[in-house]
Amino acid sequence: MENTIEQIRENALTEIENASSADELKALSVKYVGRKGHITLFLRNISSLPEEHRPSAGKAANVTRQLVEARIKEMIQQIEDAEAISSGSIDVSLPGRLAKQGSLHPVSRINQQISDIFKRLGFDIAEGPEVETDYYNFEALNFPKNHPARDMQDTFFVSDDIVLRTHTSPLQIRIMEKERPPIRVIMPGRVYRCDSDLTHTPMFHQVEGLVVDKNIGFSDLKGVLTTLVHQIFDEEISLRFRPSFFPFTEPSAEVDILCVICRGKGCRVCSQTGWLEVLGSGMVHPAVFENVNYDTSQYSGFAFGMGVERIAMLKYGIDDLRKFFENDYRFLRQF
Ligand code: PHE
Repeated sequence: MENTIEQIRENALTEIENASSADELKALSVKYVGRKGHITLFLRNISSLPEEHRPSAGKAANVTRQLVEARIKEMIQQIEDAEAISSGSIDVSLPGRLAKQGSLHPVSRINQQISDIFKRLGFDIAEGPEVETDYYNFEALNFPKNHPARDMQDTFFVSDDIVLRTHTSPLQIRIMEKERPPIRVIMPGRVYRCDSDLTHTPMFHQVEGLVVDKNIGFSDLKGVLTTLVHQIFDEEISLRFRPSFFPFTEPSAEVDILCVICRGKGCRVCSQTGWLEVLGSGMVHPAVFENVNYDTSQYSGFAFGMGVERIAMLKYGIDDLRKFFENDYRFLRQF
């Protein structure tokens, strides 16, 4: 073998640096890495080397081939770019294009915020199935068969006995069937209702909360939910607990906050009432405890549920719920 691989490399790189056209470079490619090129021939002759030199020579030759190929490619690109610029087909004065950066969806953002708040309060986080049985979605939650309260929920039926869950409350039952008090847990997830307009979509997100222990009273419910609302919105915001009805809580209360838009004066967003509903809540109904075999003389508890999109709309001033699901980049990038 006449040349060492080091010599071949030196020669190749010098010739490449001195080349002044793409054609010259293509010729060099043939000369060094083509079928009969110097490096190719060197590789082919390795078998004639003493055995102990073969691995290192093979490695050196392969590295050299890659280097020479890469350098030729790079030089051709440089020359073509320069030609494109001088012929005016590339406008170097155009501003650069920034890569688009993703951001968290507002629903994820609120979900994360809610989880952080409850983690600090010592709550666990649990999830469960979106396809539910009638038993968990209604029956165990004290909705009797044919009870009008079932109509409030615009249920999607999979079959007579199977539904898409209309709320996250069935998870209360699933948790209590598995665990004994003390229980402190939040349960985020998707829910489904057959409803669609400016403020309703067939799928939306809820976060359920459940606390069960000895001596849990309505004051605990008020304390936890007041902390929650103050941390999501702001420390100053006024809230009120308004009597309400859910089959699985007694007493039940809906939580309103002072309208974040008009601060109570009355506007379109709060339908002139000055208040906005943000949560459903109440003390766990004894019938629910009986369904999971909890001793009602020992334990009491409270539960709550909120719509995540609704909280995001109020917090960020979004007026159309459907924007959450269109995934328009111009909408999403604002968060
Ligand atoms: N599940 C109820 C709803 O979807 C909200 C709720 C949860 C109310 C827990 C009370 C207690 O409207």
